[in-house]
Amino acid sequence: MDPLNRVTVVAPVNIAVIKYWGKRDEKLILPINDSVSITLDTSIMRAKTTVCSQPDFSENQLWLNGIKTSFTNPRLLNCLEKIKHLAADQQSVDPAVLSWKIHICSENNFPTAAGLASSAAGYACLVIALAKHYKIKTDLSILARIGSGSACRSVFGGFVRWHAGVESDGSDSRATQIADSSHWPEMRALILVVSDNKKHTSSTIGMMNAVKTSDLIKYRAEYCVPKRTDKMCEAILKKDFVKFAELTMKDSNQLHAICLDTYPPCVYMTDVSHKVVEMVHAYNDMCGEIKVAYTFDAGPNACLYLLNADVPRVLTLIKHLFPSSSSDFVTGLGDVEETETEFLKS
Ligand code: DP6
Repeated sequence: MDPLNRVTVVAPVNIAVIKYWGKRDEKLILPINDSVSITLDTSIMRAKTTVCSQPDFSENQLWLNGIKTSFTNPRLLNCLEKIKHLAADQQSVDPAVLSWKIHICSENNFPTAAGLASSAAGYACLVIALAKHYKIKTDLSILARIGSGSACRSVFGGFVRWHAGVESDGSDSRATQIADSSHWPEMRALILVVSDNKKHTSSTIGMMNAVKTSDLIKYRAEYCVPKRTDKMCEAILKKDFVKFAELTMKDSNQLHAICLDTYPPCVYMTDVSHKVVEMVHAYNDMCGEIKVAYTFDAGPNACLYLLNADVPRVLTLIKHLFPSSSSDFVTGLGDVEETETEFLKS
């Protein structure tokens, strides 16, 4: 930490291949099923957060992507309170520091709330920065989960599993690493930005409505995901791309089937998203084996997983079929970055 108590952290986005969708506890953010994700390289998609507290700050302040925002978000307040409690229990900083107001400045280098996992990177970054600031020792994935469920997976690099857990206090609902970012060096993610508009229904609301109204979500959580998660971990460890890709696409399709089974239905994918799905299946058929997988979160943007050798051909196909697309990018796997110190923007 620098003399002015500033900490800056860069955290990566993760894109799930077995999706988290549905909570059993809204306040503690406890999911109804396990999920698996890949953490992407921070050079292209990442969140960056600086925190700073000083005795002369008169109020808590928050800047999101350069805009001053009110410090009232219950999830943010919850994370801060929890971290300060831990700091008090662990006596990790001088008690006076805990009474100082805090300034938080966070920015993403990709569209916020367009179904591109911005909350995952944002909350992972925030809790890692606060934990360093207050010098606490704890399971960071549990803390990040309290901010946003998917954030608990962004505290690890590489291939990550979030165990839903069974405890009612959430003490076993945490992420673990399946394999680190060097395990499958040929793996690439290709992000196709179909739209950078803010999504009409947030993941939080979409999944809450699904739990209330969809019958299919119960079947998914109970019968499909447990088997699928084990098979996915096995495919990752064996580097079996065909199996990995098939499970990834089936799981994305099931998530969006649940969205349609929700009442009223929640439609995230657009005609362009469906054209991407068609393109991937046509390409795989042409190759005679699965070479590319698509996955869609709560938005129209596609994440394609493929191996490095197939990137040039798939990019050419995309340029041919979607000539106006200009914001597609390819990335590898990544990790949370070393903490650095930096001046707060004001
Ligand atoms: C479709 O983590 O954004 O991206 O826990 O309510 O903050 P909250 O939801 P969030 O949901 C992400 C859902 C998803 C699937 C996934 O990342 O596993």
